[in-house]
Amino acid sequence: MGNIKLDYSKTLDFIRKEDVLGFESEAKKHIEALYNQTGKGNDFLGWINLPSSISFEEINDINDTAKSFKDCDVVVVVGIGGSYLGSKAVIDALSDNFTMLKDRKNPLIVFAGQNISEDYMTELRNMLSTRNWGIVAISKSGTTTEPALAFRLLKTDIEKKYGKEAAAKKIVAITDASRGALRTLATQEGYKTFIIPDDVGGRFSVLTPVGLLPIAIAGFDIAKLVKGAVDMQGQTKAEVPFEENPAAVYAAVRNALLRTGKGVEIMANYNPKLHYFAEWWKQLYGESEGKEGKGIFPASVDFTSDLHSMGQYIQEGVRNLFETVVSVAQPDTQVVIEADDANLDGLNFLAGKRMDYVNKNAELGTILAHVDGGVPNIRIELPELNEYYLGQLIYFYEIACGISGYILDVNPFDQPGVEAYKKNMFALLEKPGFEEETKAIKAKL
Ligand code: PA5
Repeated sequence: MGNIKLDYSKTLDFIRKEDVLGFESEAKKHIEALYNQTGKGNDFLGWINLPSSISFEEINDINDTAKSFKDCDVVVVVGIGGSYLGSKAVIDALSDNFTMLKDRKNPLIVFAGQNISEDYMTELRNMLSTRNWGIVAISKSGTTTEPALAFRLLKTDIEKKYGKEAAAKKIVAITDASRGALRTLATQEGYKTFIIPDDVGGRFSVLTPVGLLPIAIAGFDIAKLVKGAVDMQGQTKAEVPFEENPAAVYAAVRNALLRTGKGVEIMANYNPKLHYFAEWWKQLYGESEGKEGKGIFPASVDFTSDLHSMGQYIQEGVRNLFETVVSVAQPDTQVVIEADDANLDGLNFLAGKRMDYVNKNAELGTILAHVDGGVPNIRIELPELNEYYLGQLIYFYEIACGISGYILDVNPFDQPGVEAYKKNMFALLEKPGFEEETKAIKAKL
């Protein structure tokens, strides 16, 4: 099996190689701090050994539980942020683009509790009313408003449909070992449960049951995903020479670029299946680095679609951008372009060539244009889009995030800023206990 590859040669018009190599001892120190739990946020480092510490029994338990949903047409995964984006990213990356319209061997995974839209909820409930369905409710804290609200509504529906006792067998809860409303409810109702370890934060939880159970229900091989992550853990340890450690190099390059004023990183893909991978990455990096007035702003685009919208800005807008292309070397399928007698579209010069040949040249042409336009480029290549390489990519981004956060000298494992909107929302909703905040916020309106 191969490895994901990192190429930062197209940043070297903007930073010097010595700038990158200058991070060598710092990166090593930060990896050691992550493993020895001596850095900031050291009570949330359980993710670092997660792939290698998952047992066969745990994988089997998750796979067996996934099988218990086999008779469902649809499984609703209730969760937000880290309790949703990891599984969404992997499932979308591995699924047929039109899976919704196709015959499937496994349940269709849909999500709830990742927004508070009334229309979304109504349309979801209408769709579920004619289907056989189940629920995986995920909340580490067990108290997050969005998923709690969605679960309250869906629990009522599923109990009405199947009766309370049968419904309880169609619900799995993934939450804290002992705390939170979801844990209390699961104990009370007798749901099958999985634990989110105390020392694993939401955005680092994709390799726990939080990500693995929905991915297994969708029919994908979680053992291969974990294997990819384990192998990447081996490639990113402190003893690996700096230039051979892709995570250390990536963390170094992005921080070297930041120091030249490149404060926005755009993740670009040329395969729409990777759209939600970028959403997962944005949460990982946005919540981990964006604090104390610091951090690189993570943004994303889907190419070539967005070359016809955001391409203009990237080429000629404010020059504070750099781009990281995530590229898949080998597509799963082949489409060969046919010759056309009339050739009215003038595309016969491509006859006999594969569509991916056009896509790869669009990618190369864009990288060169953006570099010429002042946008440095990092390129990450996956040999194929499968469980194994996604596992590598996930772990690569997680460990690089820890290293990069420590280079920035922030705590990459907390998210104090997320509380501000919640406080205002509760004050406006007049939640008991928020009387003072309600008075204060109403005075502002
Ligand atoms: O990264 C995080 O910890 C957060 O974004 C959480 O994942 C998100 O807020 C959901 O929290 P919970 O799983 O407690 O409902």
